[in-house]
Amino acid sequence: MAKSYNKQITRKSFLQGTGAAFAGLAAGQLPAVSQVILNAQDPLRIGIIGSGRIGGAVGLKWAEAGHHIFFSSRHPEELTELVASAGEHAQAGLPDAAARFGDVILIAVPYAALPQVGRDYSSLMQGKIVIDCGNPRADRDGPMADDAIALGTGVASANFLPGVRLVRSFSCVSYTMVQQAPRSPERIGIPIAADDDEAARVTARLVEDTGFDPVFVGGLERAREFDRGTSVYVRGMSAAQLREALGL
Ligand SMILES: NC(=O)c1ccc[n+]([C@@H]2O[C@H](COP(=O)([O-])OP(=O)(O)OC[C@H]3O[C@@H](n4cnc5c(N)ncnc54)[C@H](OP(=O)(O)O)[C@@H]3O)[C@@H](O)[C@H]2O)c1
Repeated sequence: MAKSYNKQITRKSFLQGTGAAFAGLAAGQLPAVSQVILNAQDPLRIGIIGSGRIGGAVGLKWAEAGHHIFFSSRHPEELTELVASAGEHAQAGLPDAAARFGDVILIAVPYAALPQVGRDYSSLMQGKIVIDCGNPRADRDGPMADDAIALGTGVASANFLPGVRLVRSFSCVSYTMVQQAPRSPERIGIPIAADDDEAARVTARLVEDTGFDPVFVGGLERAREFDRGTSVYVRGMSAAQLREALGL
């Protein structure tokens, strides 16, 4: 059974946490705090498109933190065991149902599937916070991966997902790091890039809920700085090490 709301994040602790996450911003430049943030102790409704290794591992951590999770697959009957592990606030269905369910959506599919996911489900995710953790790699995804790396994933994914509040995050940790989080004594840092301040803040909360430290890097254009092939990709760096490596 999922531990219900076992990680009650007070508004104070959340804001302190995101203060650290947004260390790249000068004092006084913290984005406005909206109702979603004021209710930071409330569970979120999260849809997961792609409930494989990384989507499954992250979704389990979020369920443990008390969030309501809709895992999805094109074969949802194969998710019975995952849903049972996630507990009473988890369910499974098809990807379109996950897109409808979530206030926040995690997309964790092979990058080559992202154009189709965008075509089929963007209309269901308009204005929603969408976290994309996919990594283009030509050996798996074909030539489109090289185009995405050349553009940078923040820009490339935004082209595939029009109208959503896109965040690039959870892309440069492995699913085994997620399963083993939090690392002691020092947590691993997870970079966040987004053009939408509130989407970045909500993602920072979700990074903390998985047992990692959020590091806000900047807008989507800067997501390329932690893409596959960079010096910070899946290195298990702490937040401080990430900030130094990224010049934040
Ligand atoms: N593995 C990691 O440690 C890790 C870490 C960070 C980021 N990533 C990135 O995250 C993405 C997923 O990696 P993964 O290792 O979790 O892959 P995976 O284990 O193969 O899971 C991917 C899931 O995506 C679903 N999927 C595939 N095509 C789809 C489509 N067209 N529509 C809807 N769902 C679709 C599949 O579900 P069904 O076939 O059941 O529908 C599958 O369960 C990749 O881009 C990867 O580079 C992976």
